[in-house]
Amino acid sequence: MKLLVTGGAGFIGSAFVRLALTSPGQFSLANVDALTYAGNLENLASIANDPRYSFHKADIADPDAIEAVFATVQPDAVVHFAAESHVDRSIHSPEPVIRTNLNGTFTLLEAARRHKTPRFVHVSTDEVYGSIDEPHDADESYPLHASSPYSASKAGSDLLALSYFTTYKMNVSVTRASNNYGPFQFPEKLIPLMIANALEGKQLPVYGDGMQIRDWLYVDDHCRAIRAVLDKGRAGEVYNIGGSRALPNIEVVQRILAATGQPESLIKYVTDRPGHDRRYAITSEKVERETGWAPRMEFEAGLAETVSWYRANTDWISNVRSGAYREFYDKNYAGR
Ligand code: NAD
Ligand code: TYD
Repeated sequence: MKLLVTGGAGFIGSAFVRLALTSPGQFSLANVDALTYAGNLENLASIANDPRYSFHKADIADPDAIEAVFATVQPDAVVHFAAESHVDRSIHSPEPVIRTNLNGTFTLLEAARRHKTPRFVHVSTDEVYGSIDEPHDADESYPLHASSPYSASKAGSDLLALSYFTTYKMNVSVTRASNNYGPFQFPEKLIPLMIANALEGKQLPVYGDGMQIRDWLYVDDHCRAIRAVLDKGRAGEVYNIGGSRALPNIEVVQRILAATGQPESLIKYVTDRPGHDRRYAITSEKVERETGWAPRMEFEAGLAETVSWYRANTDWISNVRSGAYREFYDKNYAGR
C-alpha cells in the first residue's frame, strides 16, 4: 500500500502520520505539504527517518507540482488533510483559504482521476452544517449552512469531492469531524491558544459571552476514525466523527486555567467573531456502526495530557509563534 497524505506537517495530519508509522507493516507513506505558517517538520521529527516515509514540499493548488508528486509516488490511496484551517484567519484573509481549500482539493482530485488512484479520503469538518439549535444533532444528511469563508470552502470542497464519485465513479469518502485538540496544535485555535497564553501569564481572549458550544475530539481518536474510514468506509459516503463531549467555550477556558494553576482574572471577554456559530453538534452513529470506531479519550484526560505536552514543549510554542504568525497576529489581534 502506497499512501499519500496531504498536509502531514500540520496538527492532525502529523498525528495521522505518526500513528500510521508506529504500526509495523510493509507500506509507504508520502507526505505532501507546502509548509505554510501552520506546517512544521518538527511535528514529524519522531518518524522522519523511517524508511517507509518520504516528504514532498509542494503546494496542492499547483497542478504541475502535484502531477510530479503523483507520478513519483503512484499512490494507492490519498488522505487529504491540507487546508487553511482557521476560521478567524479566513475572515481576515479569505483568498488563501479559497485557493488551498477549493483549488487545492480540485487539483488533487484531478490528479487522482488522471492516475486512477484507487481510494481518496477527503478530511472535512462539522462546521459545514453551521450553527445547530438545541436539541438537534446533525447527521450526514443535515443541510449545509456554512457561515465563514473557511467553512464555506470546506463545504464546497466536500461537494466537489463527492461529485468525483457521482460523475467519475471515483472511490471517494468524506469525513466531517468536530473540534480537535491535542499536542502539536497551532496556538491560534481555542485550546492551544488558551494553554499557551495561560502558561505565559497572558490574557485569555474569550469571544462574546463565551457560551458558544463545541464538541471536543482528541486528535488521535480522529486519526483512528480516518483510518477506519480509509479501510472500511464506502465510496460516495460522508462520515461524521464526533468526540461526544459538548462544552461551552468558557468552561473549556476555566478548565485550562485550573490545569495551569492560573487565576480566572486572566479571562478577557473580547468582541465576538463576525458570523460566529453558536453551537456545533453532530451524531457519529454512522461511522460507529459501519467501521466499529468509537472515541476512546475522555476530555478530562485528554486535556490533562495536552496541557502537560505544552508545558513540556515551550520551545515549540515560541518557535511557531515567531515569524509569519507573529506578524499576522499582531496586525489583526493586537489590543484584543
Ligand atoms: P493545520 O492548519 O494544523 O495544518 C494544515 C497543513 O496543511 C499544514 O501543514 C500546512 O502547511 C498544509 N497546507 C496548507 N496549505 C497548503 C497548500 N496549499 N499546499 C500544501 N499544504 C498546505 O490544520 P489541521 O487542524 O491539522 O486540519 C487538518 C484538516 O482537518 C483540515 O482539512 C481541516 O479542515 C480539517 N479539520 C480540522 C479540525 C480541527 O479542529 N483542527 C476539525 C475538523 C476537521
Ligand atoms: P476555534 O478553535 O477557532 O475553532 P472553530 O471556530 O473552528 O470552532 O474556536 C473554538 C471556539 O472558541 C469558537 O467558538 C471561537 C472561540 N474562541 C475564543 O473565544 N477565543 C479565541 O481566542 C479563539 C481562537 C476561539
